[in-house]
Amino acid sequence: MPRVTIRDIARMKSRGERIPMVTVYDYTSARVADAAEIPVVLVGDSLGMVVLGYDSTIPVTMDDMVHHTKMVARGCQQALIVADLPFMTYQVDQGQALTNAARLLQEGGAQTVKLEGGEAVAETVHRIVHAGIPVMGHIGLTPQSVNAFGGFRVQGRLRAEAVQLLKDAQALQDAGAYSVVLELVPAPLARLITQRLTIPTIGIGAGPECDGQVQVLHDMLGLFTDFVPKHAKQYATLGDAMKQAFIDYAREVRDGDFPTEQQSFTMSEEVLAELTVPQ
Ligand code: KIV
Repeated sequence: MPRVTIRDIARMKSRGERIPMVTVYDYTSARVADAAEIPVVLVGDSLGMVVLGYDSTIPVTMDDMVHHTKMVARGCQQALIVADLPFMTYQVDQGQALTNAARLLQEGGAQTVKLEGGEAVAETVHRIVHAGIPVMGHIGLTPQSVNAFGGFRVQGRLRAEAVQLLKDAQALQDAGAYSVVLELVPAPLARLITQRLTIPTIGIGAGPECDGQVQVLHDMLGLFTDFVPKHAKQYATLGDAMKQAFIDYAREVRDGDFPTEQQSFTMSEEVLAELTVPQ
């Protein structure tokens, strides 16, 4: 199957076909997402939290993103690969933004990039798009600004916030973005934005009426057992399954039940006999 393109994504919106998207961070998860025919994968800077163990996405670097995008690109032949530009790699000036966006394609192997912000980054989006790099926007709760928001909270409940989000979405579309993520936005506002835009919206905690949905891999697979965000749905409980597998393995090693003959290798009796003859 040929790789999904941004034109396919646009067609999906015009036909009313919903767009599933999931985050992946390595070769193995990318291969599984491809085998499941997920059309869009995101190498999200959420890897800072779920893979690298930071408490926000802020410490993630360009080198981290390039490293993980390379792994995903090796595993993923069909899905459109979106890679995040991390915090402060596109805000300083447009030259910096272009250079870093290009790295995600040239070195990482992504086809498109994502960055956070609305009107404030519209010129930067325009510049990147006109250099031939498709851009996905991201508004609402933009995790790189968690300190400015004072926490991971729903955005757009107040009139002024909602008006700004409508402007942000329109500014991204006018700047040439091919899609926009709406994160932690009230469902009725996400519906309104989705109706007003011609480009697809991808929701996370933004209700059922976005054109697509994105979920963080570790949330949807239940790899974190202690906390499930309200916007996430666990489709599996792999964290529990992993823990049980580790417990069973450790017990079998301690009891001498692993490995058995099945996991062991033989050698010729003759050679063994020679080795064990007293010298
Ligand atoms: O980094 C990420 O995983 C994201 C999604 C939450 C949209 O940006």
